[in-house]
Amino acid sequence: MKTNHSNIKKSKFFLDKGQCVAIPTETVYGLAANAYSDSAVKRIYKLKKRPKHNPSIVHYLNLEQLKNDCILNKNFFILYKKFCPGPITFILKLKKSSKISKNVNNNKKTLAIRFPKHALVRKLLKKLNYPLAAPSANISTKISPVSKEDVIDEFGKKVKFILDGGKSTIGLESTIVNLIKKPQILRLGGIEISRINRVLKTKLKFNKKKKTATPGQGKIHYSPGIPIRLNVKKPKLNEAFVLIQERKSSAKNFYYLSKRKNLKEAAKKLYKTLRMIKKNNFKGIAVESIPNKGLGETINDRLIRASKF
Ligand code: TXA
Ligand code: MG
Repeated sequence: MKTNHSNIKKSKFFLDKGQCVAIPTETVYGLAANAYSDSAVKRIYKLKKRPKHNPSIVHYLNLEQLKNDCILNKNFFILYKKFCPGPITFILKLKKSSKISKNVNNNKKTLAIRFPKHALVRKLLKKLNYPLAAPSANISTKISPVSKEDVIDEFGKKVKFILDGGKSTIGLESTIVNLIKKPQILRLGGIEISRINRVLKTKLKFNKKKKTATPGQGKIHYSPGIPIRLNVKKPKLNEAFVLIQERKSSAKNFYYLSKRKNLKEAAKKLYKTLRMIKKNNFKGIAVESIPNKGLGETINDRLIRASKF
């Protein structure tokens, strides 16, 4: 507890100075900076090598704080009540009076916002008098980090401080819902669409083919840097084999995402497994077929993008 307290103090110290700090969230780690400061946000983009036109998500503690920056609507309140804090991001209209840096959203009139659930980042947000802009803490197009070690893997010593909150419990990014007009799913994520549909009494679907309004969902993304083949029954020589369920006869190149096709467990292990395979110097990755329902749909979405290497 004591170390948490001093680490939060340290994080605040660097953030107040306009530096970037890596923060833990229940989805993935974020590379955070003061969302009201032009120069602080610029640092995130430089470190991540992220194109300016790809806007970032701003992380808030509560509604009170958010009301300064965004115009809220009915659908927002319904989803907020049900899922927040949690792995869901909303696109809302920016208020004219908002102090959000233009570098966060490339001067757009909309803003992506979310309320992270992780206790440590909530403690940190309580101490700050600004929200945190934070894209995932990886170099642009690479795999998102789910632990402190992964952030080090991405940035070495370039990030001033990493707030260590252990392994991210969900392991996949938040679901993004555009609430500007009719609700629209822009990115699959930690909350299944079926749950959103139940609450909003709608039948939203994720349109894979449509060019969405999310600039960050480009074709190549979440890439471990080696080729990935999907729906494979038998791996090739030099390939690692990723499986959704343990097998009786195993081999050295077999990597299990879960014991028994548990999609929640698989989501949590996915990015760590891809990272480990890359480190173990395999020349490629073969993945067996993963059920395309619930979180499995998000896992498949990420794998398809990762396979466009
Ligand atoms: O779980 C998450 O959402 C993590 C943690 C750190 O919160 N963050 C995350 O951020 O995944 P990032 O930057 O890797 O992905 C944000 C996505 C990008 O695809 C970006 O294009 C989209 O959100 N986005 C941000 N602002 C937007 C806006 N105003 N309109 C449409 N899409 C937006
Ligand atoms: Mg990202």
